Amino acid sequence: VTGAAAVPAVTVVVGNPRPRSRTAAVATEVGRRIAAGLGAPDEVLLIDLADHAARLFDPEDAELRALGAAVAAAPTCVVASPTYKATYTGLLKVFLDRFGSDGLAGVVAVPVMVGASATHALAPEVHLRPLLVELGALTPTRALYLIEGELDDPAAGLDRWAATAVPAIATAVGPWPPAAARPPGGGR
Ligand SMILES: Cc1cc2nc3c(=O)[nH]c(=O)nc-3n(C[C@H](O)[C@H](O)[C@H](O)COP(=O)(O)O)c2cc1C
Repeated sequence: VTGAAAVPAVTVVVGNPRPRSRTAAVATEVGRRIAAGLGAPDEVLLIDLADHAARLFDPEDAELRALGAAVAAAPTCVVASPTYKATYTGLLKVFLDRFGSDGLAGVVAVPVMVGASATHALAPEVHLRPLLVELGALTPTRALYLIEGELDDPAAGLDRWAATAVPAIATAVGPWPPAAARPPGGGR
């Protein structure tokens, strides 16, 4: 990602060792709802970390550097993980460890986790949110936790969460596209 025009409104980072997971699907839907709330195109940049796992410890990897830069430049990031052993996955942590301590400064980040049961429903609040705050991200919404049984038809859970979360994100982000990227003489 090089210029302002190439920066998406929403990036979606998925820390599931299995590619194309249910976590990725629901996180992408969360991203689409946020993009719609911003009035942005509904394509989100999905970063499925399973596709990059072998290179995550290489600080020089060009593709991962570009993806990290895109996450830091976009106004909003959905950060999603399945629940593994009561918290987010090591895969997600290794990607986020690539950022400096304020590497996500100014990014509105949304913690999303999926689990087998409600036992760890507070995991995105008590584990994932502090990690995002440590990176300098803003987290203006409730975290979203979905039980895998809900994933065949997640609309109700997403609707409930989005009713308050999407307006809070839109307020935190401000007008989209940002002033520098608007066409001269018009547009939002
Ligand atoms: C290694 C491992 C550990 C897990 N630990 C938990 C856990 O502590 N709590 C929980 O609710 N679910 C746990 N699960 C279940 C997953 O979070 C759940 O199946 C989730 O839907 C997986 O996401 P996916 O469908 O996108 O792969 C675990 C699954 C695996 C493979």
